[in-house]
Amino acid sequence: MILAGQKVLITGASRGIGEACARRCASEGAKVVLVARNRERLDEVRDSLPGDGHIAISADLRNPDECVPAILKKACEDGLKLTGLVHAAGIAPVVPVKMIATAELLDIFTVNYFSFMLLVRHFIRKTASDGGSIVAISSVAACSGWQGLSAYAGTKGALNASIRSLAVELADKGFRVNSIMPSNIDTDMLKEMTSVLNEDEIEQLKKKQPLGFGAPEDVANAVAFLLSPASKFITGTLLPVDGGYTAI
Ligand SMILES: NC(=O)c1ccc[n+]([C@@H]2O[C@H](COP(=O)([O-])OP(=O)(O)OC[C@H]3O[C@@H](n4cnc5c(N)ncnc54)[C@H](OP(=O)(O)O)[C@@H]3O)[C@@H](O)[C@H]2O)c1
Repeated sequence: MILAGQKVLITGASRGIGEACARRCASEGAKVVLVARNRERLDEVRDSLPGDGHIAISADLRNPDECVPAILKKACEDGLKLTGLVHAAGIAPVVPVKMIATAELLDIFTVNYFSFMLLVRHFIRKTASDGGSIVAISSVAACSGWQGLSAYAGTKGALNASIRSLAVELADKGFRVNSIMPSNIDTDMLKEMTSVLNEDEIEQLKKKQPLGFGAPEDVANAVAFLLSPASKFITGTLLPVDGGYTAI
């Protein structure tokens, strides 16, 4: 129970990596605040978690000015302070640069990056006086090229750049700030991104990761570590969880 006594807010908790993080955190003794848009799915996940006191909050992070303060307010109505924040919500539309439009750029930056910065801003006021741990789910796309993902890669590069400055800025208040860079992980997002590929192309993609495609739980394991006291001397890092993708 490496997260006993903790309370962790996780965005993107209705499925995929965020859901796996919620399950792992709850099984390690944390109370979990689950955030995403799909109310029904959030309630299902919350009700299936071990332990009690978990909270589901339906919100659309495309409107962070309005929803982020409301999320943090609701998350703390039980009187318990937060100890951890995990930003796993994300979108990854595959768009060649010749088709990119401002509205789409704003959407992807708002969900993947701007909402993270606002979550951090409000989270640091809702924690106990000894700080907390913040984890952003970035991507190896921040440091390698992928067709049609230039905007998405930009959001993940922005996350990685901000992680280091946030770590420096918030260290004396007791906060640690890290990012995880997964490679291809078997979720709805990956299925959608690879739906245009044939079997051979998917095999080629798998071969870029010596350990094959990852499972959401592989990322959740690293998240649990970064939230736990076992990582108390780790901040400002970008941790690849990529089955060897960046080793090649
Ligand atoms: N899967 C991969 O291969 C991979 C690789 C590297 C990095 N990542 C990153 O890992 C994170 C999780 O990805 P995933 O694969 O688990 O994706 P996913 O299965 O598509 O799940 C995305 C999550 O984000 C939530 N979300 C999307 N738009 C939202 C919005 N406007 N407001 C609130 N929540 C929103 C979704 O919930 P609702 O639809 O209910 O709102 C869902 O819970 C993302 O940041 C992604 O970029 C994934």
